[in-house]
Amino acid sequence: MDAAIPLPLRTERLVLRMPVEADAPLMAAYRGDPDVARYQDWPLPYPPDDALAGIGRQAHLSGPTPGEAVNVAIEHDGSMVGDLYVEIRPPEDGGAVAFLGYTLDPTQQGRGYASEAAGAMVDALFAHTPVHRIAATLDPVNLPSMRILDLLGFVPEGTTRRSVPVRGEWVDDLRYGLLRDERAAWLTRPTSFASIRLVELDDHLARTYGDLRVHPHQEQFVASVLGSYRDALFPEVVDGAPVVPWLRGVEVTDHHGATHPAGFVMLAEVTDAHPEPYLWRLLVDRWWQRSGVGRAVLDAVVAGQREQGHSSLLTSWVEGVGGPRRFYERYGFVPTGRVIDDETEARLSW
Ligand SMILES: CC(C)(COP(=O)(O)OP(=O)(O)OC[C@H]1O[C@@H](n2cnc3c(N)ncnc32)[C@H](O)[C@@H]1OP(=O)(O)O)[C@@H](O)C(=O)NCCC(=O)NCCS
Repeated sequence: MDAAIPLPLRTERLVLRMPVEADAPLMAAYRGDPDVARYQDWPLPYPPDDALAGIGRQAHLSGPTPGEAVNVAIEHDGSMVGDLYVEIRPPEDGGAVAFLGYTLDPTQQGRGYASEAAGAMVDALFAHTPVHRIAATLDPVNLPSMRILDLLGFVPEGTTRRSVPVRGEWVDDLRYGLLRDERAAWLTRPTSFASIRLVELDDHLARTYGDLRVHPHQEQFVASVLGSYRDALFPEVVDGAPVVPWLRGVEVTDHHGATHPAGFVMLAEVTDAHPEPYLWRLLVDRWWQRSGVGRAVLDAVVAGQREQGHSSLLTSWVEGVGGPRRFYERYGFVPTGRVIDDETEARLSW
């Protein structure tokens, strides 16, 4: 059968092409790396002959093909940096399901190549095949991989427990799916807005804002909105007195005048026992991230604190890939040098 997606496929920095025999030693080297293989189900060691045999088995194909599972080489500047796994199930009743995976040479990780390659393949699958759903699964402890799917617009669909055998151990399987319409909507989601407003929550709005979600890989960095309601109801005692929560929903008005719940912010107010305001929670819904909402919330919070006569704001963050450190540092927060409960404390002064 003819390939559904003719290769090579070019992206801004990469070429996606069928692997050739000469790729076998490098492919075997990175697939055999225990760190790379940790969440993958292939046997170890991974000798070059296995890579060669795999390349041989798909030598009659010129690209991802319905009814076949194909490895595609990811090339940068003439060198292979990793591979994609693309399986397209046979088309049925005007649709089909595809499965996507990616593996990168560890010396090439952290440069966005996997996202760029996977994103191009996702768009090619939807453009050139009847595929209506792309599925991907991962071990839920594999946060870098989760981040790639999150940022492509994939939606988590649940975890099956101890369901996949990986070299003698049963591991959990987090399932993600992306439908054709969801990818189109994700690519055209808003990147700017007309204005934001911090709104007081009532029983109705508390439910609406309670539904906001960060990306799953970010759940390690921030409590959910519902968790924040709980913390506001049962406030922690700090320096001998309970903190006093101030919480607001972040409402965005788009360029057509429509309003959308887009984020949540909670402060611990200044009291006799707590001399400095503390930014306790801030989150922007996955849909509205990277469009300036977080920065606009900080502008509004700082303006409010300045009006009350305060001249600084404390916060703290969890360190990690995809964490909020850069966001806060870009705004002007400076680490104080203190680490509290494994969180980096930082201060903004004006
Ligand atoms: C951190 C968070 C609030 C940022 O909100 P946002 O609306 O996406 O941020 P903005 O679009 O306003 O970005 C403001 C600046 O920070 C940068 N930035 C934002 N998120 C970033 C990230 N993950 N990595 C690097 N830079 C980032 C933006 O590029 C932008 O820089 P610029 O002004 O120079 O262009 C949001 O990503 C979030 O909700 N994350 C999960 C929850 C979280 O970690 N909250 C903090 C808990 S303490």
